Amino acid sequence: MENRSQFEAMRIGLLNGGGDCPGLNAVTHGVVGAASKLGWEVLGFKEGFEGLLSPGHFKVLKRSKTEGILKLGGTILGTTNRGHFSSKVGEGGIRRIPDELMQEAMATLRENDVEALICVGGDGTLTTALQFQEDGFPIVGVPKTIDNDLGATAMTFGFDSATQVVVDALDRLQTTAESHQRVMVLEVMGRHAGWIALYGGVGGGASSILIPEIPFHYEHIADCLAKREERGFRSSLVVVAEGASPAGLDKIYEETDGDGESRLGGVGDRVAEELSKLTGKETRCTTLGHLQRGGSPTSFDRILATRFGVKAVNLIEEKRFGRMVSYQQYHVGSVEIEKAVRKLNLVDPKGEIVRAAKSVGICFGDEPV
Ligand code: F6P
Repeated sequence: MENRSQFEAMRIGLLNGGGDCPGLNAVTHGVVGAASKLGWEVLGFKEGFEGLLSPGHFKVLKRSKTEGILKLGGTILGTTNRGHFSSKVGEGGIRRIPDELMQEAMATLRENDVEALICVGGDGTLTTALQFQEDGFPIVGVPKTIDNDLGATAMTFGFDSATQVVVDALDRLQTTAESHQRVMVLEVMGRHAGWIALYGGVGGGASSILIPEIPFHYEHIADCLAKREERGFRSSLVVVAEGASPAGLDKIYEETDGDGESRLGGVGDRVAEELSKLTGKETRCTTLGHLQRGGSPTSFDRILATRFGVKAVNLIEEKRFGRMVSYQQYHVGSVEIEKAVRKLNLVDPKGEIVRAAKSVGICFGDEPV
């Protein structure tokens, strides 16, 4: 592409990395809206950092082309949580992106006159983004994950939408559980953090919630189910995060030798089986899986994502690079990416939300009832 003169408008890049998440298109809508107001051009790189591989795979995001995408699930740019630029390996492993790949990607950006890049993603994407910043390319980060497990931001968009899916699923499971006097186990996402299980479980009326931060004992959950039966309850809902595990045992994986993060899965079935043995109750398991990542974002997520997109453009305008947009106390600000990555936002087992849940009789499997 020919070089632009110094009088031409600024051109910025935008990419999404990691798993998709409701609200990604609302961020794109926010970025393009704010950038076009400044007279800037936005190049949307396809499939995350992969779009930076030579000769560059992108679309010019004109305002007219992003009209109406605010409410769409998924991402019009595509994304990946695998591939050449994946800085996460296995469970918790971090790798540096090889220099030749970094050089190739930065050459694509420079050849296309991109002056700064907005990277929307979770821990892995932001770790890779930080490497671009350290290697001399100006970056701004936007936090994204349905798991809500990123440190330095009180909330990420996508989490509210995922939680709503869990609540809807529990509402449906409750009626069939009640008809058959069953225990229904619902496995939800949440690798390291149990936010989706906790919020979804409290909002959906679960009687037990099992999360990675609180190792559980099957006997305690079984006791809790027995007590409910004594009190006349005909059915029970148990929510279990994919990363939860019984005290002293490891998380359960579906697959561990892929090229990115290991895939969790299967704890719901195990919990259903054990509880059935211990209680003699008929038990079924439903795994919600990617239903939690699909579909339209809630209004909360649309608004948060829009604010994040606008803030990212503001940071570039102010030349405050190497920073990540952050939501704290109802305000959208920013923090250094370096301080945000690899710092997880975990549920505090003694925190107010867990205590409130316990006060209304929800069992976490960590203590006798
Ligand atoms: O990080 C978000 C997340 O939804 C995790 O909760 C889950 O373990 C993972 O993504 C699933 O990723 P994939 O789309 O590769 O199956």
